Parts: sequence; structure tokens; C-alpha cells
Amino acid sequence: KQPQVYITKKIPREVIEPLEKMATVKMWDAENEKVPVQILKTEAAKSTAIFTTLDDIIDQSIIENSPQLKVIANMAVGYDNIDISTATKHSIFVCNTPDILNDTTADLAFALLMSTARRIVEGYHFVMDGCWKNWGPLLMVGRDIHHKTLGIVGMGRIGEKVAKRASGFDMEVLYHNRSRRESVEKALNTTYCSFDELLEKADFIVNLLPLTDDTKNKFNEIAFSKMKNSAIFINVGRGMSVVEEDLVQALQKGEIAGAGLDVFREEPISNQHPLLKFNQVVVVPHIGSATIETRTKMMELTVHNIVNVLQGKYPKAYVNKKVKIY
Ligand code: GLV
Ligand code: GLV
Repeated sequence: KQPQVYITKKIPREVIEPLEKMATVKMWDAENEKVPVQILKTEAAKSTAIFTTLDDIIDQSIIENSPQLKVIANMAVGYDNIDISTATKHSIFVCNTPDILNDTTADLAFALLMSTARRIVEGYHFVMDGCWKNWGPLLMVGRDIHHKTLGIVGMGRIGEKVAKRASGFDMEVLYHNRSRRESVEKALNTTYCSFDELLEKADFIVNLLPLTDDTKNKFNEIAFSKMKNSAIFINVGRGMSVVEEDLVQALQKGEIAGAGLDVFREEPISNQHPLLKFNQVVVVPHIGSATIETRTKMMELTVHNIVNVLQGKYPKAYVNKKVKIY
């Protein structure tokens, strides 16, 4: 009997072709509705591999209910939606899609930074709403990006790409990271500093932290109060790193000047979300890696990871290195 692979989203046929040659592939293909937890659990229980995305919560109960499961292949660089320690305990590979999305995600970080600083979305609505009556010396004035100070929180592979872009804007780049990265300091002309120092000095603060117990709620009332009143906060990491009520308060009180957000504590947000009442907040629906080129590569790598495991090999990219093939 062929192994079963369960895919939680609609993925183009040509991408999953390699899987269909070696497994029975089942897919949740409703595009506007997420797979119900009960169906995910039932299908996972019969599967050798599951192809997941960042909104699928793969917790202990799903893993322990799936005796044949060998690989959880997440189509994302982040993997906070998966209970890694339980998966590792059961020798299940947890795969992700690192590296291939670095440039694309850095592009989005800059797109958010630029649209917030230069009021692109506000300007668009201004024109669309028929408010543009004459040219004004101070009409829609924003803030300069070039020659300002950028603070990158979480200097990983995406952070390096953001720093590289910043150098083209003649920005000074500060970074904070769990561990100092001297190679990055030399290669990209960046300066390591403490979290507090970065908050105090940066004109733009870009969060790229993965979600862990240490990074949860890191951007809270205290953090926002340390930022400059002219600071713009960009989040392309994880929503859970931000206390959203505190961000709302900081914007309300003018403690910071604006925010560009790709991620939220609970996704999707509704159009009634309190952050949406601010003109100086630009939001997009978790699209950091969303280009056709990069999403195609991510789907292909996820398939490749599963194919390898089904062939008895190590996946190309996986995060729990303690899992061994014997
Ligand atoms: C996106 O947020 C990802 O983790 O790939
Ligand atoms: C602006 O368009 C200018 O000409 O200064």
C-alpha cells in the first residue's frame, strides 16, 4: 500500500507531480476556507507526510494521533506553528523553506518601510477620494529614508538582505541579535547594539525575529516608549512579538510616528482591527514571501523535502537535527 501525503492547501498539480508518483496524495483544496482541525487530524492520522502552512497548528495531539507520520513539511521559513519537541520525540522530521525567500521578504520589508515613510497608501486614498485640490508645499509630506538610521531586530539571513538594501539608501544600520555576528558587521557595515540602544537610536525599526518564548511580546509598552517619536516600526517577523494594544497606545499618544505591518497576533485580522484607524499604519496580509517566483520555489522545496523522506533520505531543509535515520 502506498503511503499517504496530506496537503492542507490547494497546490498546483504540476508542483505535486513528484509526490503522486510515490504516494497517494490528498489535498484540502477549498481556497477560501481552512481545513477544519478534525479533518486535518483524521487525515494526518493516516499519513506518512503532511504538507502544512503557517496557519496550520500541528500540536501534540495531532502528532501523537499520527503513528505513521515521518515528516511535517511546512511551507514557510518559520515553524512556530509546529510542536517541535513532540515531533522530535517521535522521530518526525520538521521541514521548512529557508534561504529561498530572503530577498523577497527583504523587498517587502522595504516596501512597507517606504510606503509608511512616504505615505503611499494615504496618498492613494487622498487621490481616490477626490481630496487632491491643489499642490501644497507641505501636502502629504512624509519622512526621509536615505541617510537615516535603520535598526534591524533579528539579524538572520533575511536581516542581512535588509541591511544590504539599506546601504543603497546610505542608511546607518544597527542590529540586535541573540548572538553578535561580526562577519555581518564587516561585510554589511552594520553595528551591533543592545535592544534598548537600538530602540533609542533607530529611525526605522524592522522586526524579523522568529517567534519563541523569548521573542513573544518583545515589542510592548516599554519598548515603544523608548523609540523616537519620529520612529516607524515595521513588522515582517511574527505578530506575537508585538503587544498590539501597546502599539495602538503608542500611535495614539504620538510616541512613535507610524507602523508597517505584514503580521498580526491573530491572522487574518478583520477590517475593524484597532490598528486600522490610523492613517500612518500600512498593513498587508502576511505576504512577505508572496511573489510567484518565491512561492513556487517554496512549494517545490516542500515537495522535495517530503520526497526525500519517502525515499528514506534526509530532507533538504529541516529544523530538528536530532532526528536521525537508522
Ligand atoms: C512566513 O512568515 C514564513 O515563515 O515563511
Ligand atoms: C515636485 O514635483 C517639484 O518639481 O519640486
